[in-house]
Amino acid sequence: MIGRVNHIAIVVPDLIKSADLYREVMGAKTSEVRTLIDHGVRIVFVKLDNTNIELLHPIDNNSPIYNFHKKNPNGAIHHICYEVNDIIEAKNNLLKKGMKILGDGNPTIGAHGKPVIFLDPKSFDGALIELEEI
Ligand code: CO
Repeated sequence: MIGRVNHIAIVVPDLIKSADLYREVMGAKTSEVRTLIDHGVRIVFVKLDNTNIELLHPIDNNSPIYNFHKKNPNGAIHHICYEVNDIIEAKNNLLKKGMKILGDGNPTIGAHGKPVIFLDPKSFDGALIELEEI
């Protein structure tokens, strides 16, 4: 059912420092810092050949990643995003198999303007998984 890894999201303490690290130490291409008000995050995209890394930092204490950042002040991997062809089909399939979806279970529009769902980490051995319809 799942396809490519669309991105891996890492919550970092300092976006500029982290972007410098990826660019200067790893030789990766990085974007400017972008603010996604609706998602409560500032973000730097690291473009790789086979996937993307998203460096995230909360905008304020209402951000959905605020608590995660507080618990992991030095940074930590936050979620992995897999691509799916049909988010509704994916959702129904997962629910049928007893998996839990976060929120009200319905897709929302993700950071890339596409429908996404997040699966309860308790259903997936502690990993927060995002599914994005591509
Ligand atoms: Co994501």
